[in-house]
Amino acid sequence: MEKYYLTTAIDYVNGAPHIGHAYEKILSDIITRHYTQRCDDVYMLTGTDEHGIKIQKTAASKGITPKELCDENSQKFKDAWKALDINYSQFIRTTDEEHEKVVQHIFEKLLEKGDIYKNSYEGLYCTGCECFLNPKDLTEDGLCPDHMKKPEVVKEENYFFKLTKYKDAIIKHIKDHPDFILPEFRANEVLNQLEDIQDISVSRAKSNVQWGIDVLSDPEQSIYVWIDALSNYITALGYDTENASEKFKKYWPCDVHVIGKDILKFHSIYWPAFLMALDLPLPKHIFAHGWITIDESKMSKSLGNVISPTSVLETFNLEYPDAFRYYMASSAPCGRDGNYSDNDFKEKVNAHLANSMGNLLNRTLSMLVKYFDGEVKPEFKAENPLAKKALGTIQIVKNHFDNFEISEAVLAINSLVDMTNKYVQDNAPWTLAKEEKMTECGQVLVNVLDIMCIISALIYPYCPNIAANMAKQLSFDLKTKLDDLTADNIKCGKLIEKEDIKPVFLRVDSELADKSAKKQ
Ligand code: MSP
Repeated sequence: MEKYYLTTAIDYVNGAPHIGHAYEKILSDIITRHYTQRCDDVYMLTGTDEHGIKIQKTAASKGITPKELCDENSQKFKDAWKALDINYSQFIRTTDEEHEKVVQHIFEKLLEKGDIYKNSYEGLYCTGCECFLNPKDLTEDGLCPDHMKKPEVVKEENYFFKLTKYKDAIIKHIKDHPDFILPEFRANEVLNQLEDIQDISVSRAKSNVQWGIDVLSDPEQSIYVWIDALSNYITALGYDTENASEKFKKYWPCDVHVIGKDILKFHSIYWPAFLMALDLPLPKHIFAHGWITIDESKMSKSLGNVISPTSVLETFNLEYPDAFRYYMASSAPCGRDGNYSDNDFKEKVNAHLANSMGNLLNRTLSMLVKYFDGEVKPEFKAENPLAKKALGTIQIVKNHFDNFEISEAVLAINSLVDMTNKYVQDNAPWTLAKEEKMTECGQVLVNVLDIMCIISALIYPYCPNIAANMAKQLSFDLKTKLDDLTADNIKCGKLIEKEDIKPVFLRVDSELADKSAKKQ
């Protein structure tokens, strides 16, 4: 694998980030970190989507300019991703000058090509979706099914993109590439939507939508959000219609667009059509994740149950975001909806990270110190009965990642942790020590520590800080590529001093969490 280019959806800045936005960025960061363990050149793009009527209206309601609102909220997204250790390579804002300029060029190119034409139009516009809705998709009461709001009747002259021209080519692409849309069950939904696809509006009258990029040849119109937003994936790389930068040549086509299921249509129908119109290759995969609910309810401002990712870190007094990342990443099977609840969070991270994984390392290192003064003797390196399972788990985890099965990969890692715990119980090194079978005792401990190195590498994308703490105590190089990992990782000689043994994850304190819940 020569390079890996991953993009996330770019978030609307009409509000602050919540844990639904965070879920996507965490999954994306985990995928990116996993591929850094397999490839030297990995690039992750994220950012904010800053134009459109929604932002214009929110800014007006606050008495500030749209740009002020964008600056303020875009920073909140950056801050949140920093707190969650989201290690992106680039953060694009659709108000970046370079992006705006290239979007204008893209629009003009499609206009010249005849793929964009002007027409007068009457339709039902949902500001929440930032798109026109098909009347047959509304609820019985005539509401947008996603936002439960009545769409506005809009009658104006708009530019239209000839989506219908690309319909057959897109259907063929989806059918010929079963892994284009993942998970696979979503592809059928897209094929159904393609059946009655129409040409789409790609501009709005400037008189109605001021906060948008001007159409270069017709400044009375502003470019409508999706052509603007989707183009970020190529403008960020320095693409322009007349020349493709070195960076663009290197990273495009994209390996995966990570998005939520609600915006799959835009990514698997509109975007491929725009790319075909620009004569550019299509992305390799579009991975649509599910939605996160809070205590099984949809997150919404009106229900007052919106949770910010940083508030979870504060509530539980977490030094690192690892536990939250771990919990979110394992909250739902691939592509399905997941749920966040404080209690479940506490239970899961305490059980998995503190009790199973953390304790296993702590106990084993403590025994090495107690019985051998922290030293690994050459005779402790023996055939490791856990090696086959551990090396097999690396392959299983890689396969899961290739299908974006992030929570399924966690299950595989946990099963390796459980098996290693069972090996300790079954072989009882404390009994071996009592019976003065010191070589056997040392072998059991070193077998476990060798596997703990593999576990630290596998858990790294989810819990980078915990993994670093583990690796430090094991003198293991976390930069080792997954394909270079063996089951022989622990070096002979002094491994650790008693005072250097530290728990890698402290149990989440339930009293602390309860107190802070009462405060609210
Ligand atoms: N701006 C568009 C995306 C343009 S991409 C070229 C948009 N923004 S959004 O802020 O509404 O959503 C950003 C991402 O967050 C989307 O992928 C969306 O699916 C995801 N989520 C928003 N709420 C979510 C949950 N409650 N749960 C999981 N993901 C959710 O759409």
